[in-house]
Amino acid sequence: MKISVSAASGVESVTKRELFKLGVENAPAINGRMTFEGDDRLLADCNLWLSTASRVFVVLSQFKCTDFDTLFDGVSDIKWEDYIPDDGRIVIKPKLVQSKLNAFSATQSVAKKAICERLKRVYKRDFLAENGKTFEIEIGITRDFCSVLLNASGESLHRRGYRNVYGEAQLKETLAASMLELSVWNPSRPLCDLFTGTGTIAIEAAMKEKNIAPGINRTFDFLHFKNFDKKVFEVAKSEAIGRLSQEKPLKIQAYDIDEAQLKKAFIHAKNAGVEDVIEFHNESMENFKSDLLRGVAFANPPYGERLDERPFIEKLYRAYGKVRKSNPDWCFYTITPVSDFERLFCQRADKKRKLYNGRIECCFYAHLGKPQSKS
Ligand SMILES: C[S@@+](CC[C@H](N)C(=O)[O-])C[C@H]1O[C@@H](n2cnc3c(N)ncnc32)[C@H](O)[C@@H]1O
Repeated sequence: MKISVSAASGVESVTKRELFKLGVENAPAINGRMTFEGDDRLLADCNLWLSTASRVFVVLSQFKCTDFDTLFDGVSDIKWEDYIPDDGRIVIKPKLVQSKLNAFSATQSVAKKAICERLKRVYKRDFLAENGKTFEIEIGITRDFCSVLLNASGESLHRRGYRNVYGEAQLKETLAASMLELSVWNPSRPLCDLFTGTGTIAIEAAMKEKNIAPGINRTFDFLHFKNFDKKVFEVAKSEAIGRLSQEKPLKIQAYDIDEAQLKKAFIHAKNAGVEDVIEFHNESMENFKSDLLRGVAFANPPYGERLDERPFIEKLYRAYGKVRKSNPDWCFYTITPVSDFERLFCQRADKKRKLYNGRIECCFYAHLGKPQSKS
């Protein structure tokens, strides 16, 4: 089958690297999607192991499409009965870009009618009850070329299942994992999450240290596909459990001045099975000082979106800059939309990259460490 993986803007390169580790050698990225051939096992592994991807789809058909008749025929030619049982609930999500077909709800109803007509014929029914599991189908038409995709993940892969109490300004788990993958950090290097909030960066790092598959504690829509062999998933899941690291993980440091946030972070860490790896410090990141060499610090500081917060942000970012100066051999990675961050931090970044935190356009700054010998 053809599998397609979507990733947020700016992180496609790291998702490709993760795919390579799963054995996918050639997956060109087009408009944030990477498409390649695979089998049931790869579909399961992509969902279980990709820490940076948003969703995994099965590509059911692709054809040129400039009118509703072609859309109807193209969609009804697909063997929907191989995937959807007679009680399946069908949800259509059109994505229309620069195409003759540009009416969202008409596209939605034509595609749905094509699927339902076919299923009624095959299942010999007058109507479909649609009271079973949900099957989400994306009808993507870009420049008159239609791709019909079946969502194999279900809800977005950032929902790992460990975050059940909500905090303010949380990072998506997939963005936190992408920041780790975009950095020089690896599990053999010390790590500190300086503004941990509900713990997302620290927890994602701890999961990588323990080699916990990001999707191990959640369910996926492909498990309801009629033609998917569930035994394949059971094997993939038990192999993932067998791959848990047996090495003693390095302790991860996590700082926050807000005790309520740290309590949430601890609950999330426990849910993810990594509370033993993270040391939570209920104090300002200004107190962070490490004797460990070649560490990597991550920061998702407050952004101060209101104008009256600007003096607080300036003071905080200046204090943060001093933390880097007192840990010169550490690398510092910061995500923020504050445009004069480098000026406040008092140091030019070695690298920068545009990343989106939800809808907020941010810059991801890398300040690399200066090697030093500590004796
Ligand atoms: C944008 S939130 C971090 C959200 C986090 N990445 C998550 O996913 O939940 C910023 C956090 O910085 C904390 N903070 C503010 N000033 C701080 C300081 N001086 N030292 C440490 N933490 C601070 C706030 O309490 C808040 O939890």
